[in-house]
Amino acid sequence: MSKIQIEGGHKLTGTINISGAKNSAVALIPSAILCDEQTTITNVPNISDVDSLEEILKYLNVSIKRDNDNVTIDCSKMENKSIPNELSQKLRASYYFMGALLAKFHKVDMHFPGGCSIGKRPIDLHLKGFEKLGAKVEEKDDHITISANELKGNKIYLDIPSVGATINIMIAAVKATGTTIIENAAQEPEIVNVAMYLNNMGAQITGAGSNSIKIIGVKKLTKAIHEVIPDRIEAGTYLIIASLLGENLKINKIIISHLEPLISKLQEAGVKMDIKDDYIIVNKVEKYKAINIKTLVYPGFPTDLQQPMIPFLTQCRGISKVEETIWENRFQNIPDTIKMGADIKVENNRIAYIKGITPLTGKEVKATDLRGGASMLICGLIAKGNTTISNINYILRGYDKIVEKLQQVGAKIELID
Ligand code: UD1
Repeated sequence: MSKIQIEGGHKLTGTINISGAKNSAVALIPSAILCDEQTTITNVPNISDVDSLEEILKYLNVSIKRDNDNVTIDCSKMENKSIPNELSQKLRASYYFMGALLAKFHKVDMHFPGGCSIGKRPIDLHLKGFEKLGAKVEEKDDHITISANELKGNKIYLDIPSVGATINIMIAAVKATGTTIIENAAQEPEIVNVAMYLNNMGAQITGAGSNSIKIIGVKKLTKAIHEVIPDRIEAGTYLIIASLLGENLKINKIIISHLEPLISKLQEAGVKMDIKDDYIIVNKVEKYKAINIKTLVYPGFPTDLQQPMIPFLTQCRGISKVEETIWENRFQNIPDTIKMGADIKVENNRIAYIKGITPLTGKEVKATDLRGGASMLICGLIAKGNTTISNINYILRGYDKIVEKLQQVGAKIELID
C-alpha cells in the first residue's frame, strides 16, 4: 500500500477547488436505484467510497458510467441479490442500500456496514424506523434481512438526530403508502441535498433541513439530473490548512453558510479571512490564540472537522479544549500528533487539552481513520522535516485528489510506494 510523504513548512498559494460532498454522494448514489429510468448525478467526488458503491451497484447488475465528475446510473436490469460482507464492509454508507432496496423491492438482504472505527456506530435507529414503516427486521450475526409486504407511512421520532437514520428512513418512505413524518430529524445540508434529488425525481418531501421532515409517498420516480453540493468537510480541512500556511490561498466553490461553525471558531482564534460569495481567501498570520471546541450536530461544530483542528490548535497560544460529543473513539490521531511534538492530554477519550504553541517535527505516522488521517497530513504540512503517513487508504476514502490539489498550491507532498 502506498504512503504519503510530506516535506513540511512550505507556504501555499493559489486556488483549491472543492469537490462534491462525500456524505451527499454516498447517499445520492444508492438513492438512484429508486428511479426506474436513467439518472445522472453531477459533481461526484473521485474518492474510494464512491468506487465501493460502484462495486455494489455493478454486483446488483446496475449500469453505472463515470465520466469525470458525472455518474449516470441505469437500473433497468437490476437484480435484488444479497450484498456480501466484502462489499458492505468497505464503507459505512453501504447502509443506504437498506432504505433504497427496501423502497424498491420491499426486501433487503445484506451484511452490516463497515467504515472507520471511530465509535460504536450502531444502526438501531435506522432499523426501528424501517419497522415503523411496517418492515420486519431479522438479524443473525453480521447478516441482516429486512422485508415488508407493504410499507406504510408513519410518525417516527428519532432518539438522536442521526444523519444516516434520517436519510435512510427518508429514502425508505418515498414510495410508502401515506405520509411519513420524521421528528427530531438531523438537519445537515447533505440531507437537504438528498431530499432535493428525490424530489427532482418526483418524491414529495418537505422540511428537509429542519428537525421535522414530511414525506408523502408516491408510486413512481422518474429520471433527473442532480448536482452534489460542495463538501463542507473537505472545504473546512483546506481552510484549516490555509490558516496555517496560506499566502493568498483561495478555497473555491464552497457554500459559506455550511462552514459558519468553523469560520467563527477560526476567526475567534485570530484567522483573517476574506469571505466572498463562494470562496474564501486566507493569509496566515503570526499569532493565534487558544479556543474551545465542542462537537455538535449541525449547525454546531462538525465532528468531522474536530480531528483536522488538532494540528491548528497546537499552533495557538494557550490551552485549547476540544470536547467530542458524537463519537466515542475520535482521538486516535492524538498519539502520533504527540510523537511529532504536540503537548496534548486526553480525558476519558472525550476531552482533549492542547497546549500551544509547540513546533512539530516530521515523523513516521499513520492514518487511523479518515479524518484522523487528514489531521496527520496537516501535521506533516506544518512540521519541520519529512513526515511519512501510512494507511492512507483511509484518507483516499474521503478526499478527492488530495495530493494533486496540495501539490498545485505549492505543497511538497507525494504518494510513494
Ligand atoms: C454521518 C457521517 C459522518 C459524521 C456523522 C456525524 C455519512 C456517511 N457519515 O455518519 O461523517 O461523522 O454523520 O455528523 O454521512 N447513532 C445511534 N443509533 C443509530 C445511528 C446513530 O445511536 O442508529 C448514534 C451514533 O452512535 C453517534 C450519533 O448517533 O453517536 C450520530 O451518528 P450519525 O449521525 O448516525 O452518524 P452517521 O450517519 O453514521
